[in-house]
Amino acid sequence: MNKQKDISIQKAGSINHTNFVTVRNRDNKIIGCARYRNCHLYNLFIDQQYRSQGLGSLLLTEVESEMKKGGCTKCSLIAFPTEFDASAIETKNRLHQFYLKNGYDYTWGVLHLLPTLSCKMYKPLKNEG
Ligand SMILES: CC(C)(COP(=O)(O)OP(=O)(O)OC[C@H]1O[C@@H](n2cnc3c(N)ncnc32)[C@H](O)[C@@H]1OP(=O)(O)O)[C@@H](O)C(=O)NCCC(=O)NCCS
Repeated sequence: MNKQKDISIQKAGSINHTNFVTVRNRDNKIIGCARYRNCHLYNLFIDQQYRSQGLGSLLLTEVESEMKKGGCTKCSLIAFPTEFDASAIETKNRLHQFYLKNGYDYTWGVLHLLPTLSCKMYKPLKNEG
């Protein structure tokens, strides 16, 4: 089953200038969410059972679209895995791959070479047309 056909992604509201975008399944249950303020993305999460189907990328695209509507010319974030286990470094690398494949780059070219779990990334947001 292509679960993407049965999901909806939309801005869910704002609290104190912090904006939320949710991903809902066909039962209207929230299976993912993102939180951003101004042009900075703070949280991005997809339920484990729904991962690696493109939903995280779709959620990110929706956030970028909303940011552009708000006048942002770039999206910044700190790539930092929120789930820790013995393979934290591997998870960090997968997370960086996720952002790289979605057009993000490291704010400082060499930072990703350092043995740290977090690093700053950004993507210019271009207006079509
Ligand atoms: C990062 C995350 C939102 C991606 O969601 P997704 O729906 O799997 O994204 P997509 O299907 O578009 O892309 C899949 C890619 O995400 C990355 N990814 C998958 N699982 C991941 C995980 N547990 N942690 C980090 N990155 C992961 C991989 O690069 C994966 O590529 P692959 O399927 O070829 O291995 C999701 O893994 C997640 O919620 N992780 C936990 C929370 C987190 O760390 N958020 C980021 C904070 S900066």
